[in-house]
Amino acid sequence: MPPDTNNLSKTLTTEDDRILDLALRPASLEEYIGQERVKQNLAILMAAAQQRQEPLEHILIHGPSGLGKTTLALIIAQQMGSNLKITSGAALEKAGDLGSILTGLNDGDFLFIDEVHRLNHSVEEMLYPAMENFKLDIVIGKGNTAKTLQIQIPRFTLIAATTKIAALSNPFRSRFGVNYKLDFYQSDEIEKIVDRSAKLLGIPAQPEAIKTIAASARFTPRIANRLLKRVRDYAQVKNQPLDRTLSNEALTLLDIDQLGLEAVDRRILEIIIDKFSGGPVGLKTVAAMIGEDEDTIADVHEPYLLRLGFITRTSRGRMATSDGAKHIGRELKTETTRPLF
Ligand code: ADE
Repeated sequence: MPPDTNNLSKTLTTEDDRILDLALRPASLEEYIGQERVKQNLAILMAAAQQRQEPLEHILIHGPSGLGKTTLALIIAQQMGSNLKITSGAALEKAGDLGSILTGLNDGDFLFIDEVHRLNHSVEEMLYPAMENFKLDIVIGKGNTAKTLQIQIPRFTLIAATTKIAALSNPFRSRFGVNYKLDFYQSDEIEKIVDRSAKLLGIPAQPEAIKTIAASARFTPRIANRLLKRVRDYAQVKNQPLDRTLSNEALTLLDIDQLGLEAVDRRILEIIIDKFSGGPVGLKTVAAMIGEDEDTIADVHEPYLLRLGFITRTSRGRMATSDGAKHIGRELKTETTRPLF
């Protein structure tokens, strides 16, 4: 069976990986590599709030997965000397779930809600008065005997993260004091991250191996760290030094090419080019033909293909570019460019 390389960009693989990921997380803004503008803005926001001895304003962080949204939340809470409660949009099913979390916080605490676009409407609405004036409307009873009770909750700061900023309603978005966008990292930043992680894990990787791993990491720290660990496993089992050749061998075995494309990424390009003459083709169709979930394609695979300029998104669907075709050894019959209107 081919390896499930999807894992490398999607979910955590093993318990060992989870522990290693924690060990590799930067603990302060100084240690955090990249996202310079976000770091500078955050440093000002935190220093100003500390000088005024006020809680931080609510923070929204968006961008593709694996870029460090949770890590930033952990750093913010740590630098402000407060606790961070972590949950996710999908876990907060009922208003009561949110109510019990909010009432359990202390003044100055942080609440991190990952994948906040998955919050259901009633929970989102319950958050509004909580975010605005730290009040919670609780409904007691049912039907026409139901009563609403308003209670005061601790002055907390919400840090919300999403890969889908467009899925948030305007009223919700406007309740955040700041909205930071994380971008894919630069190649040199990813190299620094792989180098830092190799040193922290005591992996004797040669500089060329670091470069090779970084080049396949899709400009994403989480993937960079995971690839480093898989290549380290390979070097250990082969009992050979971790150099460029060995890194390439390990990545080939994982079915990851030199630009970091996995089988699913290449399949997306193949379908658009071979079955739809370069597009346009809708996301639903691509998802059905690959047998992959639409959200996974939109959140995990497409952002990187867009970043490489291998596909474009148009109002009529996805189109492949000539660079994308070239990468998988095809040639587009007609260059697919964006419509001019
Ligand atoms: N590990 C994961 N992300 C990182 C980052 N942005 N800086 C340093 N180490 C990291």
